This record gives sequence, structure tokens and C-alpha cells, in this order.
Amino acid sequence: MSVSPMSLALFEELKHYIGFEAQDAEALAWLLSKVNGKIPAIVEDFYHHILQHEGTRRILQDPAQVERLKGTLRTWLAETLSGPHDAAYYERRNRIGQVHVRVGLPQAYVFSAMAHIRRHLEAAIVEEAGGDRTRMVGTLAALAKILDLELALIAGSYHETEKFRALAEQAGLARLGEMAAIVAHEVKNPLAGIGGAIQVIGSHLPSASPDRPIIQEILKRIEMLNGTIQDLLLYARPRPPKLAPVSLRGVLQDTVTLLAQDPMARETRIGISGEDPVVPADAELLKPCFLNLLLNASQAMGGKGAVDIAIATAGDRIRVTLKDDGPGIPPEVLARIFEPFFSTKHKGTGLGLPIAKRTVESHGGEIRVDCPPGGGTLVTVLLPR
Ligand code: HEM
Repeated sequence: MSVSPMSLALFEELKHYIGFEAQDAEALAWLLSKVNGKIPAIVEDFYHHILQHEGTRRILQDPAQVERLKGTLRTWLAETLSGPHDAAYYERRNRIGQVHVRVGLPQAYVFSAMAHIRRHLEAAIVEEAGGDRTRMVGTLAALAKILDLELALIAGSYHETEKFRALAEQAGLARLGEMAAIVAHEVKNPLAGIGGAIQVIGSHLPSASPDRPIIQEILKRIEMLNGTIQDLLLYARPRPPKLAPVSLRGVLQDTVTLLAQDPMARETRIGISGEDPVVPADAELLKPCFLNLLLNASQAMGGKGAVDIAIATAGDRIRVTLKDDGPGIPPEVLARIFEPFFSTKHKGTGLGLPIAKRTVESHGGEIRVDCPPGGGTLVTVLLPR
């Protein structure tokens, strides 16, 4: 993978900033001469702790990998102390964050693992320095500097790799969006023609014809396809909102009326409570956005249940919450819920929530989906006043 890691110049600058000098390198070389024999035990203890925690253990499933890593860590520790802390050292350090991203290791574990190594080495310094206070203080300072530098390098390349990944994903999705728009555009007109022709054929059938339900079914499917195409075009070619003062309660009430027309949602009860603020918004964009959120809530409850909508002022924003009493969302789905084309429903395009998010954000707002411990799903939409 080609990432743009922290530059070598920045590494030198960082060393300078931390105040890492020749005397620190000497102090670390002395420390290495004293702890060289203890390194395998420190590494064993390091992995003992890693294997005790579920979060880190699940990354290391293969015992052969653990053994390989122990070797890697022994080399890392010896090199950290021996130096030279030069360009080649920097290159090797840059890889660590990248590898950790690849194996899915959360950053926080690196910091706590480093604290563990730090404690071992500090204890060794105190023990080995004996009564030599100057030696002890100097070596402790050198150790603090080098481990901070290591963390800065690991965190830096980690961050760059994550950023690179997110950019690559965005570029891929943008291309996918463009393709989807082309296909949708090509399909839209012929589909309208087919719909019209079927309607004409239907109108010629006698009212008692057994083919009438078939015609109705075809028209229903065409309507569904049209919905999918609208979603694709809306997602791939968004338009900026035309802001005008609108009653948020009015928008929500209209949306509830729209939802009631969906036969699948007929048994969904919806209540609106709270304030009736006027906000700068584009009602024509907000209605499909809230409709999507309500449809999701209704579908999550199998069409039967209650959704409570509440409107309240929250500082300089208006908060709209939509709470359903459905089964909630599993964490792995919740984490990806706003990703375009991600859908757990066999019917959905996976664009409803990404469109809703983009609509809210284009209004300068924010959207969140949570699953409170009490059950159900809570969608929070914040819009500027
Ligand atoms: C002080 C903290 C840590 C340091 C200094 C460190 C260092 C390293 C180094 C030097 C590598 C090899 C990179 C390369 O291939 O060039 C590596 C890889 C790896 N590290 Fe860490 N690590 C730390 C914490 C952790 C923790 C807490 C875990 C938790 C499981 C972990 C899991 C891994 C894994 C799975 C690999 C990939 C190994 C492979 O399959 O080749 N590391 N780490």
C-alpha cells in the first residue's frame, strides 16, 4: 500500500522537539547493556497481558503469529535502545502503524502496551543505577523521550494509513455513484414507457378479466423500480437545499401522511410531540429524508408498533428524535449504517440512510443513530435554528 507517512523531516523535527540528543542515545545504550538479558522476559510478560484481554486476544488467533511477534518485539525493543535513530530506523517504525491498521488493532491498545514496557524498563533503570542518581535521572529521561517518539511515529503512520483508506473508499464510492447514476438514467425513460404501455393494455381488459391483478402487480413492481432509480439519482446527483422558513412540525406531519399511504406501514402508530419551531430548511428535501427514517423504523418493527417523534430546542439547534420500539440494531450493522449501498434488507438500495445523512448535513445539521439500553432505535436529527 502506498501511503504518505510522516515525512523524515518531521521525524527530525520531532526528535528536536522532544529534545532527544546524543547523551540520550548513550544513556539508552547503557540501559540496553543492563537489560539485554531481560528482554525475552519483558516480551513474554507483554504478550501474557495481551492474551488476557479479549480485545487484543481476538487479533492474535494463531499461536505461530504470537511466536513471530515475540521475535519482532524483541528486535524492536533492542533497536529502540541501541539506535541508531536514523532514517532507516524511522522507515521501520513507520511500518508498525500501517501493519496495526491492517490487522485491525485499535490504537488505544498500543498506548497501554507501551505503558507496560515503560514500567518494566523504569524498574530496571532504578535497580541497575543503584545509588547513581545522575545515571538514574538521565536514563529515565532518555527512556521517556524515546518511547514518546515511538508512540508519535506509530500513531502518525496509523493516522495516515487510516486517512488513506478512507480516501480510497470515498473515491471508490464516488465512482460507483457515477456508474449508478448512468445506469439509472438509462433505465428511467424506457421504464416510464413500459409503465405507460402496460397501463394502456390494462385499460383494454374487461373489468372481470383474471389478468387485471397481473397488470396491477407489474405496475407495482415498476413503481418500486422507479423508487430505486430516484434514490440512485438523488444520491449520485444531490442538489443543494433551497432554504426558506418552514414549520418543522408541519414537515413531519406531511411525512407521517405520506407514510400512511404505504400499505406496509398501515399498522405503525406515530405520535409527534414537543415544540413547533420554524427553521431555515428545504421542505422538499426534508420530507423524503424523514420519510426514509420513518420507513426504516416501521420496517424494523415489521410494520407494527409505535414511533414517537419529539421536537425540542437544544441550544442553537432544534433536536428531532424518532424512537421506535423495534428490536434495535446489532453493533456491526450500526457501525456501517450510513455507508452507501450497505443494506441488510433484500429490497433496499442501501441509500436511504446515506441520503438522509447527506440531506441533514447539507442543512448544516447532524444525524445520529443509537440503540439505547432500554431497547428500540433512537434517531436524533439536529438542525440549525
Ligand atoms: C508498544 C506497543 C507495540 C509495538 C511497539 C508493536 C510493534 C510491532 C512491530 C514492530 C510489528 C511488525 C511490523 C512490520 O511488519 O514491519 C508489529 C506487528 C503486529 N502487531 Fe504490534 N506492537 C505493539 C502493540 C501491539 C498490540 C497491543 C497488539 C495486539 C494484538 C499487536 C499486534 C500486532 C500484530 C497482529 C502484528 C502483525 C504481525 C504479523 O502477522 O506479521 N501489537 N507490531
